[in-house]
Amino acid sequence: MAFTNVLRVKDVASWEHSARVGLKNVDVGRYTHIDDPRAWFYIGFMHDVGKTLTDSGSLKKASGFGPADKRELDKHVVDGARMVRGKFNFTAAGLIWHHYFSGGYPSKRMMPDLGVEFSEATELKAMYLGRLTGVVDFYDAITSRKNDKFSTDGSPCLPSREQAREIMVKCNPDQRYFIGQLYDSGIFE
Ligand SMILES: [Fe+2]
Ligand SMILES: [Fe+2]
Repeated sequence: MAFTNVLRVKDVASWEHSARVGLKNVDVGRYTHIDDPRAWFYIGFMHDVGKTLTDSGSLKKASGFGPADKRELDKHVVDGARMVRGKFNFTAAGLIWHHYFSGGYPSKRMMPDLGVEFSEATELKAMYLGRLTGVVDFYDAITSRKNDKFSTDGSPCLPSREQAREIMVKCNPDQRYFIGQLYDSGIFE
């Protein structure tokens, strides 16, 4: 997975996030039995690898993030799938969905033809792994990035466990039962 080494060179924070999502995905894989935990790790660890092609100015912008930055960032999904296909086809078919159900991109119309052929059942499995990777991705983002929304004294902080769980369900309503299971099983802390 040398692809991710390039991401590490470009932005350590994005690499660390990817490593955490990969490892948490393994726990989710063991819990669900949907696929080999290695498949979960690959999708988790490589889900943001397309950010190696994202303009650093947008990728690392701490304040003043605007629509042009969002457009630049949104490209990372298709870029990532194109980078890994050929070597990790199932990963490519899965990671393409990791923002689709909660962020809405890329739109169905903009979904690229990755040129990889799977049975319908495998396509669906890849999509589901991609969707649940999006849930783990979201969890990692809200529990590792400090935000002044949750602050009582104005300084950025992390949400409490209860606040995080509430946000997870609010932003991923289609997965609310699964999110509850992940909290109850201790996979989400
Ligand atoms: Fe992403
Ligand atoms: Fe991510």
